[in-house]
Amino acid sequence: MMDADAQIDEQAAAPRVALITGGAGGVGLATAARFLRDGWAVGLCDVSARKLDEARERLDSGDGRLLPVAADIRVVAECERAVRVVSEWRGRLDCVVNAAGVWTEGPSDAVTEEEWDHVLDVNLKGTFFICRYAIPALERTGGCIINISSDAGLWGNKGAAVYCASKGGVALVTRALAVEMAERGVRVNAICPGDIDTPMIHYQAQTFGKGDPDGYLRDLLSHYPQGKQARFIRPDEVAALIAYLASAEAAPITGACLSMDFGLTAGY
Ligand SMILES: NC(=O)c1ccc[n+]([C@@H]2O[C@H](COP(=O)([O-])OP(=O)(O)OC[C@H]3O[C@@H](n4cnc5c(N)ncnc54)[C@H](O)[C@@H]3O)[C@@H](O)[C@H]2O)c1
Repeated sequence: MMDADAQIDEQAAAPRVALITGGAGGVGLATAARFLRDGWAVGLCDVSARKLDEARERLDSGDGRLLPVAADIRVVAECERAVRVVSEWRGRLDCVVNAAGVWTEGPSDAVTEEEWDHVLDVNLKGTFFICRYAIPALERTGGCIINISSDAGLWGNKGAAVYCASKGGVALVTRALAVEMAERGVRVNAICPGDIDTPMIHYQAQTFGKGDPDGYLRDLLSHYPQGKQARFIRPDEVAALIAYLASAEAAPITGACLSMDFGLTAGY
């Protein structure tokens, strides 16, 4: 891992700039905290202005390295605006972390068009169009993209075909962009985490737990090879891998979909 000094671009003598979508959520917030600690400037994008305000209260040290940007990434023009605002803020963009995401589950013969569109628009379309608009600025800095896919982007999750479609799409968009962008000096990787202790899994437990949220969470953990020792991934553990992928030490890594799931998808 690089220390704070090493994250400073010596030529420009300015902090590197990251755009983090879903920046007010569990993974996004932990990643922003990690990047700020490492000396980056962070453009924090989220659809929720209220959660962005809370995030600013927690993260902003008053040194001007945090820029909250409210944007709904389902809307292509909002993706363009979020990327433009953050790129123009300090005249550079070095890293994009696509951490915005939404979950849904239920029998596939009950899925509505609205549900499909919402999940695919946030998780896949929004992720792609943030990348699409960030490419020119990232090319100028030799920057990188880190997309958050999921174990559900690598194998099927029973009762979550729509979410799997979105995250499988993110994994392959990542690989395709990586080979396309290699000659232009932009690295593109994805992380495929198992269950992370963020508001998302508690939303899942409340919404889909059939009145037994604790049972729902226990059931999630029951699939891990650690058995009784199984636990949820901490958001700061995901942030640490993101920080590594954004560092110069990760130069050989592009087109990777890195599992971070306690072996969940390794076999059984
Ligand atoms: N929590 C898990 O167990 C888990 C596991 C694997 C992958 N993931 C993925 O990790 C990423 C981060 O999830 P998290 O666990 O931090 O969830 P979270 O719910 O805590 O955060 C997601 C954030 O995305 C934001 N968001 C939702 N719709 C948006 C939109 N249209 N435009 C902009 N922002 C929007 C939300 O407001 C929220 O702040 C997601 O892509 C998720 O699918 C999560």
